[in-house]
Amino acid sequence: MRAAQLTGDFGLDELKIREAAERPLAPGEIRIRVEAVSLNYRDLLVVKGLYARKLPFPLTICSDCAGIVTETGEGVTRVKAGERVSPCFMPGWLTGAVTEAAARGALGAFADGVLAETIAMPETGVVAAPAHLTAEEAATLPCAAVTVWHALVVRCGLQPGDTVLTIGTGGVSLFAVQIASMLGARVVVLSSSDAKLERARALGATEGINYVTTPDWDGELKKRGIAPDHVVEVGGTATLAKSIKSARMGGNLALIGNVSGGGETNVIPAFMKNLTLHGVFVGSREMFEALNAAVSAHGMRPVVDRVFPFEEIAAALRHLESGAFGKVVVRVS
Ligand SMILES: NC(=O)c1ccc[n+]([C@@H]2O[C@H](COP(=O)([O-])OP(=O)(O)OC[C@H]3O[C@@H](n4cnc5c(N)ncnc54)[C@H](OP(=O)(O)O)[C@@H]3O)[C@@H](O)[C@H]2O)c1
Repeated sequence: MRAAQLTGDFGLDELKIREAAERPLAPGEIRIRVEAVSLNYRDLLVVKGLYARKLPFPLTICSDCAGIVTETGEGVTRVKAGERVSPCFMPGWLTGAVTEAAARGALGAFADGVLAETIAMPETGVVAAPAHLTAEEAATLPCAAVTVWHALVVRCGLQPGDTVLTIGTGGVSLFAVQIASMLGARVVVLSSSDAKLERARALGATEGINYVTTPDWDGELKKRGIAPDHVVEVGGTATLAKSIKSARMGGNLALIGNVSGGGETNVIPAFMKNLTLHGVFVGSREMFEALNAAVSAHGMRPVVDRVFPFEEIAAALRHLESGAFGKVVVRVS
């Protein structure tokens, strides 16, 4: 079988599709024929060597996929051959608080990932894909969508009628728009593009602000009388100060990403406003299952920006880097 791997060095040009051996299944494991893989900003960082400087090479990249179970090892009872499943981002985090071992087992960094024709997983580390979704759509859920569910529903305690602010229109942010609006919240989106803001409105966002033409978007929010209950913070150090200023007294900030880099943050308003800052790292299998139940009940469909063939993984990662609207997917089989 073929796998997309880093073998000797970091870099998009170092990424190779190579023949790799299928290992025999251990008891409790299943084999999955990977149909589709979705890309995350993290995959770019991994490939460029910006996620960690030392990773176990050869490394199969990427964390998110959907595929069909083709083989079950001894003692497997949770899944059957023929079912479409997705591995959890951290297959070892089933419920409760995350452990260091489970975090280290996150796919596509210190542990092998999923951009391969077949993968072997513990049966406990996968969830059933929502039945109404295509493989490409289901592949988008394990990291970005679970992170948003964990952030907004589990940590921030989102309620219908609440206001959510989300930054950008990438994978995480569009799930924030879709999940928050599906649960009855009002969603404000920031983007560098007016056209993307329009498209975000069509997905359920109630308001949009262009952060390039309106760099003082925190002031603009104030002018519009909006003080978000919850901020989905993917901008990081260059947007955090404004997010803190924007949030309502006693509000929540979910610290998720750092796409903006740079910048300094005045933390004083964070405590003067009694804010709660939640560090969020994806989520557990229990959260993934709760997300999937909601996605199925509401018939929600993730936004797939573009699908690339397996052989064009480097082009797919470059497309992600250029600012996709929603998720970039690679079709494997
Ligand atoms: N903690 C976790 O568990 C977790 C999980 C998933 C992702 N993440 C992190 O979350 C971040 C977003 O991930 P993603 O997969 O959604 O990335 P993505 O799909 O590449 O989207 C990034 C978006 O951020 C916006 N953006 C870029 N530069 C910006 C700036 N200077 N100020 C404000 N917005 C900016 C852009 O939106 P516009 O084009 O609309 O301007 C861009 O499309 C990354 O840092 C990633 O590592 C963390």
